[in-house]
Amino acid sequence: MSARLYIEWDGDKIPGAEEMLRRVAEQCVQEEGIGLPAYAQVRITDNATIREINREYRGIDRETDVLSFPSTDCTPRETLGKRQDKLRRERDETGRCFLGDIVISLEKTKEQAAEYGHSLNRELSYLTAHALFHLMGYDHMNEEDKKGMRRMEERALEKAGLNRVTDDELVARAKEAMTFSYSPYSHFKVGAALLCRDGRVYTGCNIENASYSVTNCAERTALFKAVSEGEREFIAIAIAAEKSMAWPCGVCRQALNEFAPALRVIVACGEERDEAPLNALLPHGFGPSSGMTEILGKE
Ligand code: THU
Repeated sequence: MSARLYIEWDGDKIPGAEEMLRRVAEQCVQEEGIGLPAYAQVRITDNATIREINREYRGIDRETDVLSFPSTDCTPRETLGKRQDKLRRERDETGRCFLGDIVISLEKTKEQAAEYGHSLNRELSYLTAHALFHLMGYDHMNEEDKKGMRRMEERALEKAGLNRVTDDELVARAKEAMTFSYSPYSHFKVGAALLCRDGRVYTGCNIENASYSVTNCAERTALFKAVSEGEREFIAIAIAAEKSMAWPCGVCRQALNEFAPALRVIVACGEERDEAPLNALLPHGFGPSSGMTEILGKE
């Protein structure tokens, strides 16, 4: 590995996050092509601490998502040789170049992940990549620089296997699942792809039965697969049908509402597509927050 991250957690470690961030760091350094073993120090903290650091070192009394403190004044406009020279001066006793320090607020990372509808790991990886490119001299003062930095971040994240699941990909997964539909009675093929907060996608198809009422819809197949693998938080579901746009049936709306009342529901048929939030499809829905837990708790 030509890149190393020394990660310090002020709070609890997120399982699996360190390996992922190291993978991201490796790709960032490779993408930049500095060709020297490098390392950075990362502190993962809370809003109050990042605010304090922001005030102390930058005179800005505000919390933020990420701060980076480069060890050199490298810029991507310099030749590679010049940048390498500057970095060589930051070598430690093992010959590794110190890129600088990164501070990330985990609280802000969580908020942003929810806002953008992707996994916490994805947001944490994005912020780490962003900060690492700052450490290597990138900036986003003007549109052109911003685009250049963004391109580098995207490439590094993609190579680290962290590209965002797009609606197109989710719909494509639902269409693929549709091909497995077992529907000898209705001949109505349906496939679903459910996107979890951790970035994983579970697919399902409708499974019919000679005793018709035993039929399971594609959405519930995907949901039950996911829940039975430990997933509890969901961002979006894509539903693909062959013959018409299939909005989820009432039973599936209720099943999905148990876990994700604000789920994005995307329906697709051929090239046609539509979407609505689950709570618009199931207004005044009955769910875990409707008093059940209170009643159960009193037993
Ligand atoms: N079906 C689904 O799988 N999802 C929907 O959203 C609507 C209906 C299935 C159930 C049955 O196998 C077939 O479509 C016809 O009702």
